[in-house]
Amino acid sequence: MRKPFIIANWKMHKNIEESVAFINQIKDYLPRAVDEEVGIAAQAIALSSMNQMVQGANLKIIAQNAASELTGPYTGEISARSLADAGVSYVMLGHLERRRLFHEDNQTINQKVCAAIKTGVTPIICTDDKMVQAPVKGKIHYVFDQLKGVLKGVNPKDVQKVVLSYEPSWAVGSKQSANPLVAQEGCSRIRQTIENLYGKVLANNIRILYGGSVNPENIATIMAQPDVDGVLIGRASLSAPDFLKMVNWQQALSKVM
Ligand code: PGA
Repeated sequence: MRKPFIIANWKMHKNIEESVAFINQIKDYLPRAVDEEVGIAAQAIALSSMNQMVQGANLKIIAQNAASELTGPYTGEISARSLADAGVSYVMLGHLERRRLFHEDNQTINQKVCAAIKTGVTPIICTDDKMVQAPVKGKIHYVFDQLKGVLKGVNPKDVQKVVLSYEPSWAVGSKQSANPLVAQEGCSRIRQTIENLYGKVLANNIRILYGGSVNPENIATIMAQPDVDGVLIGRASLSAPDFLKMVNWQQALSKVM
């Protein structure tokens, strides 16, 4: 069984005080850890203070980026080693905005993935809609080219721990609301790509999230899709009441079904 994973991606919003206040507002209303994993990806400077607030709560602290090296002369970078030290469980790597605005390519993201794995911080690897058709075992499949690049040289034992996400570029930060069928299609094609690369067992176990204009109204139908194991939420996660509605999506789903 793949445990659902709901993540707030706060991007460059919320300072330390606002981040801590948000956690205080939500921490007593989170779902049980056996049912769902919940996390917040915040600015690096807030992570340590946030971590002190979540002891005993079902809430993971997530970094939005990390360096491709663990130590050295890289002024301004933040090492996954320091993230681990600050109590960070996961790090998002290769988000669309990192690719688009900071020109990160598959090779750089691959180095970051390898560095994070060495420190025990689990990568959440974001991919967008750049699919290519490729023949696999005589049949034409859609293959997420980015996945092959960012997972290059990663041991299958480590691949099974990572979390993947599908975020179509037209849906991230846009007015276009996410369509559950598009989310399902993208996530199932990523799973197919993982199956082609690493086999069925790993593909069945790996968690694949969807991101792009998720909100309290559409989350339940997106989460109802068989290959969608969770969501990355940007704008709608900035409000504590809305985030609480979304982490408790299972209640809304029981009304929809
Ligand atoms: P959005 O952002 O929910 O504001 O579209 C999603 C993301 O960037 O992860």
